[in-house]
Amino acid sequence: MKRVQDASTVQETYDLMSALLHKVVPDFELKMKAEVAFEINQLKKEKNAVILGHNYMEPALFHSIPDYVGDSLGLSRIAAASNAERIIFCGVKFMAETAKILNPNRMVLLPVEFAGCSLASSITADDVRALKAKYPGVPVVTYINTYADVKAETDICITSSNAVDIVKQLDSDIVICLPDEYLAKNVARETGKKIIYPSQQLFTGEHGMVVWNGKCEVHDQFRVSDIENARKQFPDTVILAHPECPPEVVEAADYSGSTTAMVSYVQKSKANRFLILTECSMADNIAAENQDKEFLGLCSVRCPHMNQITLEDTLDCLRHDKWQIELDESVRVRAKKSLDRMLEMSKS
Ligand code: 13P
Ligand code: SF4
Repeated sequence: MKRVQDASTVQETYDLMSALLHKVVPDFELKMKAEVAFEINQLKKEKNAVILGHNYMEPALFHSIPDYVGDSLGLSRIAAASNAERIIFCGVKFMAETAKILNPNRMVLLPVEFAGCSLASSITADDVRALKAKYPGVPVVTYINTYADVKAETDICITSSNAVDIVKQLDSDIVICLPDEYLAKNVARETGKKIIYPSQQLFTGEHGMVVWNGKCEVHDQFRVSDIENARKQFPDTVILAHPECPPEVVEAADYSGSTTAMVSYVQKSKANRFLILTECSMADNIAAENQDKEFLGLCSVRCPHMNQITLEDTLDCLRHDKWQIELDESVRVRAKKSLDRMLEMSKS
């Protein structure tokens, strides 16, 4: 099927969007969204812009304007290699910052001035410096969901898709894993490491992971009872959970992986019914592309930060080159080292 991005009229944009989204977006809204999407797709060619869309973008945006969609790791790789004059990041601020760190000669734009993330705001560069002083010589592994100044204090970044793999490769019995307590606990379970809180004493020879208490405000809402209730009502449901979910939720699920890993899992699976414990737009996006499969909704769980990014803001961003990401050069250079190490050590 022709991509919405390649449609040559508003009517064709609407027709292609409707084929994908008629079950998830009301028709009157689709008509309005198609007009905006068509204008964006024309303008981005004139302005030599590439649009990156995170898997959590709302369905009308996700399926109409991005040149590339994906998870944090995949979009970082694309941002790093892009030759476009402008990179428009339809995601949250730490993602746009990551693009600027990796590709500083491009203009990187976020469609709203500030789209945050509860994990990124849970830790500061001072917090990391204090941990390094408390545990000298211990490698600092930091989730990509952090701001540039925190990445600058870090030895290596991780994402949900490479965290286990990278922590296994590190030649150290102890690592400091920041700032997501649940992701760290999920990685600890898979790597056999013991969790150590910064308040605890560190003993030499310990095989452990020093964690921070950051949480994703979205994934923190899921409970094992959600899984039990879904299984009781629909015993054939396959349950997927993002590794930012509490460890007991991840353990009770059938599969855990990054947003893109979950998309691929559903595409390859022969099962008919799924519950995806992550930001709820992603389930709608997957449903649009897998119309033969059924998805149980938990749609109160929307990321308020990702939710800020709309087609209308993206058009405004393209028209007026706003909001540009600017970074202090010394911070950027140090942050880039931790991202470069991650890209070198990631298999996929
Ligand atoms: P992914 O890297 O799996 O896309 O996750 C990013 C994120 O913010 C999840 O909440
Ligand atoms: Fe941050 Fe959670 Fe939103 Fe992802 S879903 S951007 S981790 S608040």
